[in-house]
Amino acid sequence: MKFSDDFIFGGATAAYQCEGSTLEYGKGKVSWDDFLAKQGRFKADPASDFYHQYGQDLKLCNMFGVNGIRISISWARIFPEGTGKINQEGVDFYHRVFKECHKNHVEPFVTLHHFDTPDVLYQKGDFLNRETIQAFVEFSKYCFEEYKDEVTYWFTFNEIWAVATNTYIEGTFPNGEKYNMTKAFQIMHNMMVAHALAVLEYKKAGYNGKIGVVQSLEYKYPFDENNLDDIQAAKNEDVLQNQFLLDATFKGYYSIETMEVVNRLVSINNGSLELLDEDFDVLKQAALLNDYMGMNYYQSRFIQHYEGENDIHHNGTGEKGTSRFCLKNVGRRMEKEGIPRTDWDWLIHPESMFDMLVRIRQQYPNYKAIYITENGMGYKDDFEDGIIDDEPRIDFIRRHLEFTLKAIEAGVNVKGYFVWSLMDMFSWTNGYNKRYGLFYVDYETQKRYPKASAYWYKRVSETKEV
Ligand code: BG6
Repeated sequence: MKFSDDFIFGGATAAYQCEGSTLEYGKGKVSWDDFLAKQGRFKADPASDFYHQYGQDLKLCNMFGVNGIRISISWARIFPEGTGKINQEGVDFYHRVFKECHKNHVEPFVTLHHFDTPDVLYQKGDFLNRETIQAFVEFSKYCFEEYKDEVTYWFTFNEIWAVATNTYIEGTFPNGEKYNMTKAFQIMHNMMVAHALAVLEYKKAGYNGKIGVVQSLEYKYPFDENNLDDIQAAKNEDVLQNQFLLDATFKGYYSIETMEVVNRLVSINNGSLELLDEDFDVLKQAALLNDYMGMNYYQSRFIQHYEGENDIHHNGTGEKGTSRFCLKNVGRRMEKEGIPRTDWDWLIHPESMFDMLVRIRQQYPNYKAIYITENGMGYKDDFEDGIIDDEPRIDFIRRHLEFTLKAIEAGVNVKGYFVWSLMDMFSWTNGYNKRYGLFYVDYETQKRYPKASAYWYKRVSETKEV
């Protein structure tokens, strides 16, 4: 079986990770600027200097069969203070980028928020503060209207789960808070309400385009499938990362089964959630109007029952075996015999992506379409005289594409696949040694070098076969 002729073979990027020029051309501060400066490990400047290099990046897309690009608009480039005054230089920059996309026959898939809340709003509580929901809707409406002739495919948020867990459970995103289950669920709910309101505005205005949200999913298997406690632990993590957000996306409410787990996990903090009736009115309407969901998929997890103390350590260096994720009364993530890991301890388990796709079709039959909006392998590439032989990455992408085809065969409507990432770029919690790109970036010269994976991807895109 082959991919269809209109299947998108894309590459993904995110504004803060590739643009550089973080405080130039009128851009306002975002939540990350001070956080990274305080850590002093690495900076998001110049990253891949996409702000100036987008021309060569889009030309490379055209040359290498990449017919779609995920781009995010930096909210603080358009509204430096989050709301109010507009920075025309930022507005014009994205017009130039979209024009270049079309010139190169590369379809832009545009995300409105990829982890970079303007600092002014972040300081007031980010999306835990409902003022930010309103500000996001205003920003979205502005972009829909401004770019309506250039952008057909929109995503509201990138990875609501990652925002929640990295900000409030793992503490790797600003401001490094840990183990706060209540805030994690609350911000996910509030961001889903913001998503829903933006979708309603888009549809109300009658634009000729499509809209959805990008969720980051991981299949959660019990470590011992015959152990009832491990089965429950896997369920806990599944609700936390997958089911809460999938319910909100496709149903517009949380099922009784979901809420049973949510209430138990929130009570660990003696917390409670603010879930308003009017929130569910908009969530339910948007659930019927979403045109697709973006799914970022990297790995699965094997979860064991755990009653010990909270203990999380993020492997942000690529020293294999250094990550730990143990959450009291939730579960502990385990290695699994026979399932290889990257140097960052991410499990390489493409079958699990198939399981997730089939599950969505079965559990949420009203879903319309899925784009795999990120998938790829973080890897320390060897650069020898301009040659980058990234065989493990090719193998990773090949196997995930094979399982994508199997899922399509099993009846799942998958419309496209975006490699994370188009070119090497800044990684939020790992800096620059974890490379994902099809194109190698020399950060000194900003020169791009196609890796072996880029040549391989070109062939797949042209033949529609893996
Ligand atoms: C996704 C994000 O979570 O994973 C990207 O949407 C991110 O922004 C990617 O870079 C890979 O994660 P990491 O931590 O390896 O850079």
